[in-house]
Amino acid sequence: VNHLLGIKYLNKKDIQLIFETADHFKEVINRPIKKVPSLRDITIANLFFENSTRTKLSFELAEKRLSADVINFSSAQSSVKKGETLIDTVNNILSMKVDMVVMRHPNPGAGVFLSKHVKASIINAGDGAHEHPTQALLDSYSIREKLGEVAGKKVVIVGDILHSRVALSNIFALQLQGAQVMVCGPKTLIPKYIDKLGVKVETNLNKALNWCDVANMLRVQNERMDISYFPSTREYTQQFGVNRELLDSLDKEITIMHPGPINRGVEITSDVADSKQSIILDQVQNGVAIRMAVIYLLASKIKQ
Ligand code: CP
Repeated sequence: VNHLLGIKYLNKKDIQLIFETADHFKEVINRPIKKVPSLRDITIANLFFENSTRTKLSFELAEKRLSADVINFSSAQSSVKKGETLIDTVNNILSMKVDMVVMRHPNPGAGVFLSKHVKASIINAGDGAHEHPTQALLDSYSIREKLGEVAGKKVVIVGDILHSRVALSNIFALQLQGAQVMVCGPKTLIPKYIDKLGVKVETNLNKALNWCDVANMLRVQNERMDISYFPSTREYTQQFGVNRELLDSLDKEITIMHPGPINRGVEITSDVADSKQSIILDQVQNGVAIRMAVIYLLASKIKQ
């Protein structure tokens, strides 16, 4: 398959290959000259129909570190605003001899839809509340880096599971690698289909943190809510926010993760986010090597 549309289309060996390839590129980007000439013959279009800081910039950097030609498209400044369709937009871009498309889109399934209608390799950079595969890969890669391996580890994903593509991709990725997964949040923000995914469900954050080795704190995605799913932000923080006092009450030191962007003082306090227990900026750093690996492996299939 010449696409990365979701973790659900991968197996354990695919993830191992991506991690081994990322190990190599992590070493490359720590050299004084951070580039390799591998993809001088590949052109990549980054299409963002939704806002992004980390994903957009790290894809662009990964592509440039691989020496690919890169063009960037933001829907806000494009002819999408004049009514052009997704397929027309992408086919016009592809006619300029583009080989690969990285796309973030607000609609779940947008990447799968596109892959059926255009002739290019598609990488899903987040589709609505569906999947964010490269985020889950960099998250697992960061756990592996910090704790030695993912297999056997207990990971709790805390917060707005209902609207989170990060949660779903992480659940698939962690389970493929043999981790135990729990979700924790208000009942109103835990999707009904969760029972079918084989994860533990907990509504008490203290119990969840006592159980886990790693807590991945999610932002409440107000932009995807047309109603309020809990009484107030203050009450959400009291029940589901992680703070220093809570972490110090545990009898072990757990690892704290967050995919970003952080709402400081809501799901996580600044002293926790910026502490030694947090690997939040390691996650961002690892995103470049992981995306280099994904692009490199897909490009090698295009070249075959
Ligand atoms: N983690 C993540 O996807 O961040 P951005 O929305 O800034 O890309």
